[in-house]
Amino acid sequence: MSKLEFKNVSFAYSNGFKAVDNLNLTINSGEKIAIIGQNGAGKSTCAKLMNGLLRPNEGQILLDDKDTSDMTTAQISRKVGYVFQNPNDQIFNSTVYDEVAFSLRAMKVEENELDKRVRKACEVCDLSSYLDDHPYDLPYSTRKFVTIAITIANDCDIYIFDEPTAGQDSYSMKCLKNVIDYLHEKNKTIITITHDMEFVVNNFDRVIVMQNKEIIKDADKSEVFDDKKTLEKSYIKAPIIKRLCNSIDVKENLLSVEDFVAYIEKFGV
Ligand SMILES: Nc1ncnc2c1ncn2[C@@H]1O[C@H](COP(=O)(O)OP(=O)(O)O)[C@@H](O)[C@H]1O
Ligand SMILES: [Mg+2]
Repeated sequence: MSKLEFKNVSFAYSNGFKAVDNLNLTINSGEKIAIIGQNGAGKSTCAKLMNGLLRPNEGQILLDDKDTSDMTTAQISRKVGYVFQNPNDQIFNSTVYDEVAFSLRAMKVEENELDKRVRKACEVCDLSSYLDDHPYDLPYSTRKFVTIAITIANDCDIYIFDEPTAGQDSYSMKCLKNVIDYLHEKNKTIITITHDMEFVVNNFDRVIVMQNKEIIKDADKSEVFDDKKTLEKSYIKAPIIKRLCNSIDVKENLLSVEDFVAYIEKFGV
């Protein structure tokens, strides 16, 4: 299990554009965290810094108290798996099986163990019937699960899912929930970047709000969605149930449909 820490982390792209500025955060094992904020706020940059695809220009990133500047990207990404926003940026093998097995083969994982891990990861991601298919013959939403299965087969400690609900139907949303529950049961850390506030309230506990290169709020979801100023500043719409309660003047801080149903059952309409 891994702990990840950002200490005064800033990063600028090679054209000189500073995308994140002075980020500080600590992520402990087993946490379920959503990073939210406007397009361009720096969320994906922050995720790529977490798994070593990008390296800070200033500050330090520590993985299990070790400075990651002394580690290779391969070493970091073995523990911190990043699932890209667009699966097409990641996939290059000609079958689902080979794609999920690729990095295990590179790590020279023994064949029996490799087979077991690939099949289990594909089962968790509901891909067992597509093992011999070409990933590009699968619909986009299923292809996204191929990239999720890669991180599960690698047995990462920290999983970062970048916009996983984009383009997903209700069946895939259920599969995604199963994946998150499976990883959480194993005390893995799950981080998502998302614009989908219902997905946040139904699956995550801690919410980090980014706005214009910075973290402007980092708290439990109930506190974040009750903070009108932060939501306004970052152009975030509160979850539907929260908005409904505001409009009918329910003072209780309810976020999900389950919260709302429990409230109605207790206090009536
Ligand atoms: N490769 C790049 N080169 C230069 N600027 C980039 C690059 N990638 C992203 N940016 C810029 O960095 C800022 C943050 O991008 P990003 O981290 O992708 O934001 P988010 O994920 O919150 O939408 C944006 O203004 C974006 O245009
Ligand atoms: Mg992004």
